[in-house]
Amino acid sequence: MSDKPIQSASPITSSDATTHFGYETVPIPEKEKRVGDVFRSVATQYDIMNDIMSLGTHRLMKRITIEYSGLKPGHRVLDLAGGTGDFSLRFSPIVGEKGQVVLADINDAMLAVGRDRIIDKGSNQNIFIAQVNAETLPFKDESFDCVCIAYGLRNVTDKFSALKSMYRVLKPGGRVLILEFSKPKNKFVKTTYRAFSALWPLAGKVIAGDSESYRYLVESIRMHPDQETLKTMLEDANFTDCKYYDLLNGVCAIHIGFKPSM
Ligand SMILES: C[S@@+](CC[C@H](N)C(=O)[O-])C[C@H]1O[C@@H](n2cnc3c(N)ncnc32)[C@H](O)[C@@H]1O
Repeated sequence: MSDKPIQSASPITSSDATTHFGYETVPIPEKEKRVGDVFRSVATQYDIMNDIMSLGTHRLMKRITIEYSGLKPGHRVLDLAGGTGDFSLRFSPIVGEKGQVVLADINDAMLAVGRDRIIDKGSNQNIFIAQVNAETLPFKDESFDCVCIAYGLRNVTDKFSALKSMYRVLKPGGRVLILEFSKPKNKFVKTTYRAFSALWPLAGKVIAGDSESYRYLVESIRMHPDQETLKTMLEDANFTDCKYYDLLNGVCAIHIGFKPSM
């Protein structure tokens, strides 16, 4: 797969006719549908494929992300683009019975897998499920202490609208956490990671019978903004004290931004 330029930070406006779906340029409304098809196709194999493709490292990155959440018992947290509920299950014991976790995702198939996992683990007392589009969150203003979006933002068509929507639903003093694939800094890491990730479509074909979805995964990672660009996008959406932490030399990064206290 060839190198492609990093996607620009500029928000999509109503006059833009096209956007990216991996390396393809598609009409804006088509991206949401095609992303939906990808996650509907991979939903039942999603968790096992995550372990295989990341060699288990996604678990460590999720643990580290939670360390930055600042969550306490009684807090309300939005696990946005939460898919099969990995983060929700981890947040649930932290916020406890007085707190609340909302597992929110646009995709019914991913949420169905998440719902079953949550019920199986007996965590359904404080986890609630909502089918939503991150661009237009249907929650009240200032109703969450933390919004976490993990490996979700790169799949959203209008990232700027999604960031603004997250800002709106955060309480003053609340924080957004974005865990995403990013850009490795070291040349050796970059080359090794590129070679390794190029195998994912083949792994997808052998294990899940679907190489196209995993080809999109690889391409969407390569098209995603780099660390500094995403930080600027957060600042443009009015978040303050924005910073990021590289994981695995920048293969992934955790971005944090705050809604200022009153
Ligand atoms: C790679 S999965 C991440 C799931 C989970 N957060 C995790 O860390 O394992 C990406 C998720 O983003 C969701 N997604 C894509 N576009 C979305 C949107 N516009 N609004 C909400 N969720 C979206 C997909 O349905 C999918 O479940």
